[in-house]
Amino acid sequence: MRIPRETIDAIRENTDIAQVVQRFVTLKRAGNSWKGLCPFHQEKTPSFHVIPHKNIFHCFGCGAGGDAFKFLMQLQGMSFIESVKELAGPAGITIEERELSQEDRQRLRRKQGVREACDLAAGWFHANLMAKPEGADARSYLKDRGITRETCVRFRLGFAPDGWTHLLDHLEKQGVSPQLAVRAGLARVNERRQSSYDMFRDRLIIPILDDRERPVAFGGRIMKGDGPKYINSPETEIYEKSKTLYGLSHARAPIQRSGRAILVEGYFDVISLAQAGFEDAIATCGTALTPEHCRRLRRLTDRVLVLFDGDSAGTRAADRSLPLFLEAGMDARRIDLPGAKDPDEYVQKEGGEAFEKRLGSARPLLEDFLHRKISEHGHADARAVREALPLLRRVPADARSLATSRAAGILGVDEATLRRALSDTREEQQLAGGGGARWVGNIELNHLIWLLIHLPDSVSGVVGAADPDIVTDRDDVRAVLGALLDGQPLVSALDGADPDVQRVFQASAAREGLYTEDNALDAATKILARLELRGVEAELSAVRRELSGCEPTLDGPRYRELLSRRAEIQKRGQRLKKLVGPRR
Ligand code: UTP
Ligand code: MN
Repeated sequence: MRIPRETIDAIRENTDIAQVVQRFVTLKRAGNSWKGLCPFHQEKTPSFHVIPHKNIFHCFGCGAGGDAFKFLMQLQGMSFIESVKELAGPAGITIEERELSQEDRQRLRRKQGVREACDLAAGWFHANLMAKPEGADARSYLKDRGITRETCVRFRLGFAPDGWTHLLDHLEKQGVSPQLAVRAGLARVNERRQSSYDMFRDRLIIPILDDRERPVAFGGRIMKGDGPKYINSPETEIYEKSKTLYGLSHARAPIQRSGRAILVEGYFDVISLAQAGFEDAIATCGTALTPEHCRRLRRLTDRVLVLFDGDSAGTRAADRSLPLFLEAGMDARRIDLPGAKDPDEYVQKEGGEAFEKRLGSARPLLEDFLHRKISEHGHADARAVREALPLLRRVPADARSLATSRAAGILGVDEATLRRALSDTREEQQLAGGGGARWVGNIELNHLIWLLIHLPDSVSGVVGAADPDIVTDRDDVRAVLGALLDGQPLVSALDGADPDVQRVFQASAAREGLYTEDNALDAATKILARLELRGVEAELSAVRRELSGCEPTLDGPRYRELLSRRAEIQKRGQRLKKLVGPRR
C-alpha cells in the first residue's frame, strides 16, 4: 500500500506528540517542553524530553529521538505504515491509497519480468546440477569439495552446460525474450551478429538470493580449463552489489540467534561454513564492504567476526572495512586461520570444532590494526599514533574512551596525551611534522628531553634561560629537567621519579641521532618557541573571550587594559611564529 507523502506530512503536523507520548509516559512541564522517564532505557532521573513546537521527542540519556511515528515504531514495534495508520484517525485525516502512476506501474512490471527470468533460470540451473546427465561433472566436482546434496539444495546450486544458447532457448520456451534475459544479466548481446548468447557457460552456478529468498543474480565458477574463476551477473533493476550480502537470506535468523555475524570473502566459504553448522556466515559478492552492507548487518547484530584471507589482500580488505565498522558502531573482530587459505578449506580439513575454537581467538579489528602499525614503525612511534588518530575519531562517543585507553596501551603512549591529540587537530599536524619521533607528552617536550640528555653543552644555555612553565605543566618533569640542567647524570636526575617519567627519559636516552651538534641549538630554540607559542595562543583566546563579554562604555578601564594586552600578546605571537618558521 502506498500512502502519499503529503498525507503522511499532514498526519504528522496534526498530531500532538506530547499527547501520543503521554499515553505511555508521565510527562511534567519543563519550560516550553515536557520531561519524563525515558521508556527506551532504564533511568531514575528524567532525561527524556518532548519538544512540542518541533514535534519531536529526544532522550539525552540514550539518544533515542524522532517524530511521533518513530515513537510508536520503537515503543510498540510497529512498522512505519502501521504507525501512520494509527495516528491518522486522531489527526482527523483519512488515508486514501494512491493510484500508481503509469510510470510506477511500468517500472514494477519491468522488475517483475526480470525477477521471473532469474527465477526460471535458477530452477533450470538447479535441475541441471541435480539430475541431468550433463551435470555429472559438476556433481562430482562438488562431491570432491565435500559439498553434500543437501547443501546443494539448500543453496540452490546449479549448473550451466557448455554451449551458447541453452539457457536462452529454455527461457524462450517459457516466454522470456532474449532482451529480457539480457536485462536480467543472464545473456549478452553480440552486436556484430545481432544476436544474444548465454552469460554462463560450462560453469557451476551459485545463485544470489534477495531478502525474500528470490534469485536476483548469479555467480558462475569455472571447473576446468582457462578463464576467470568467477563470472558474476552485472547489476540489474533488481540487483545492487553494494547492498547485497551473499547468504544473508538464510543467515538472518541464525545471526539474530547467535548474536553475531561471520563475514567471509567467498561464496564457498559461506556454503561450507553453513554445512558445518555455522549458519550465520555471509560474504560480499566479490566487492569491498560498503556502508550499506554495514547498515544491513547492524540491524541484525553489532558483532561481526571477520575472516579475511591471511595475505596482504586480506589485510588491505581489513583496513578498508575498519572505518566502516567503527562508524557503524560495530564490534568487529578478526580471526586468522593458520595453515588454510580460507574458511572453506579450514573447516573442510579441520572440522567445525576446530573452527569454533578459532572463533574464540578473535581480536578487535582496531587492535589488530594498531599492533600491525607498531610492528611496522616501532613501539611508541609518532607515525603509528598518527595513523591511529583518524580511526579513533570514528569510534562512536560512548565507546571512544575505552578504545582510546586500549589504543594508548598498545601504542605505548600516554593516555591523557592521546586524548588531547584526539580532540586537537593541531596536535595531529605537529605530530605529522615529527615523523619517526618517539612521542610522549608532546613531541616538542620529547625532543627537548633528547637534546638535554645527548647534547647538553649545546642547549643548556637556551633551555636554562626559558621559563620552565612553558616547557611543561608537570612539576615532576620540571624537576628532572632542572636536575639535568644542573649537570646531574640521568640516573640521579631520575632518582625517585614516577615510573612513567623514567620511561620517557630512558627511551630518549636510548634513542640515537635525532640531532647533531650543528643543528641542536637551532632545534632547541625552535622547540621552545613552539612551546611558548602554544601558551600564547591559549592566553590570546582567553583575552578574546573576555573582550567579547565586555561593554566598552561600562567597563572602560578593564576594556582598554584588555585591548592593550591583546595587542601585546599578538606581537609576542608574531615574533614566535617567525622563530618557529612555517608550519610543516
Ligand atoms: P575466492 O577466490 O576466495 O573464491 O574469491 P571462493 O568463493 O573461495 O572460491 P573457491 O573456494 O576458490 O572455489 C572470493 C570471492 O571473490 C569473488 C567471488 O565473489 C568469490 O566468492 N571473485 C573471485 C570474483 O568475483 N571473481 C573472481 O574471478 C574471483
Ligand atoms: Mn575458497
